[in-house]
Amino acid sequence: MKLPPLLQVDSLHVRYPVRKGLFGATSGYVNAVDGVSLTLERGETLGLVGESGCGKSTLGRTVLALQRPSSGQVFFRNQDLFSLPPEKLKQQRRFAQLVFQNPKACFDPRRTVGSSVRMALDIQEMLEPSERDDAVAAIFAKVGLRPEHRFRYPHELSGGQLQRIGIARALVLQPSLIVCDEPVSALDVSVQAQILNLLRDLREEFELALLFVSHNLAVVEYIADRVAVMYYGRIVEIAPRQRLFENPQHPYTQALLAAVPSMDIARRDEPVPRLGDPPDPVHLPTGCRFRNRCPLAFERCAVSQPEAVEVAPGHSVACWAAMPAEPAPSLASASTN
Ligand SMILES: Nc1ncnc2c1ncn2[C@@H]1O[C@H](COP(=O)(O)OP(=O)(O)O)[C@@H](O)[C@H]1O
Ligand code: SF4
Ligand SMILES: [Mg+2]
Repeated sequence: MKLPPLLQVDSLHVRYPVRKGLFGATSGYVNAVDGVSLTLERGETLGLVGESGCGKSTLGRTVLALQRPSSGQVFFRNQDLFSLPPEKLKQQRRFAQLVFQNPKACFDPRRTVGSSVRMALDIQEMLEPSERDDAVAAIFAKVGLRPEHRFRYPHELSGGQLQRIGIARALVLQPSLIVCDEPVSALDVSVQAQILNLLRDLREEFELALLFVSHNLAVVEYIADRVAVMYYGRIVEIAPRQRLFENPQHPYTQALLAAVPSMDIARRDEPVPRLGDPPDPVHLPTGCRFRNRCPLAFERCAVSQPEAVEVAPGHSVACWAAMPAEPAPSLASASTN
């Protein structure tokens, strides 16, 4: 019997009011997540890509119940997160952790990093108190640090070392899911590959599912099993990694891929297509919200928003130009009408 997915997101909406000034009246809304449905299996890595401001972090935070949705549901380990009582929600939170973009900003500068990691165990009341320091030492070894690193303060460590400790703090709670929100984009390029390799190794060892958020397609291609492309609150394309990179169907995905610097020296001098200015998130275009930047836009695109349609197994696209052509009616069925 097939197990239900580890994570199931159904018709999720998150809407933020936009105010005039700090305490002013609401002047509009940003639909940061606007009808997202997706699933994530145990041990799977789903890459979530899109430009800055398209709602990736909001989706990641909502999946972790750090943000309440305006509507929709998140099922995690068979539980509807937003209908759980607080104590049950706290228990579930242990199994879903977050690794942040900027490791320097997410540790208390007055605590040693070891005590920050131990605090995660204290809050969740995991293990006997006497066992917790040993668990912290063991997890430091797993992320490639020495036991004495536990006694350092954040300012004494490099960005790469701090990100290892950010991963250790998530991992020490033995989660089944980690949301990695741009985990390498604040790091030097030379360190990025080390952290990505670490995440890949840990994922195997601990059978972790990752929701891997990034604006960088090259990073996602390296780590993801499947990739979802987000555009202003909506998933416009989702597919297994290889298929998405070899056969992108949505014009937005195609534009993002064309903008990735080519590894092929012969193609390095080809002009990179410009995507055009992003829309105002409070006043998105009617119909397809990509249409003011889309080279293929036609009349229908202004009238109604395309829903996602499966164009191949596991590959869905929300674009009028990518819809499979409707079969022409056969002569036999035509004559019976
Ligand atoms: N707490 C918030 N209050 C109001 N608007 C927000 C808040 N968080 C994010 N937004 C808005 O929601 C949109 C999506 O933001 P975000 O999820 O951070 O996107 P991304 O991670 O893709 O850059 C943006 O327009 C952003 O300004
Ligand atoms: S629906 Fe139309 S405007 Fe939107 S991406 Fe497809 S072709 Fe372009
Ligand atoms: Mg973000």
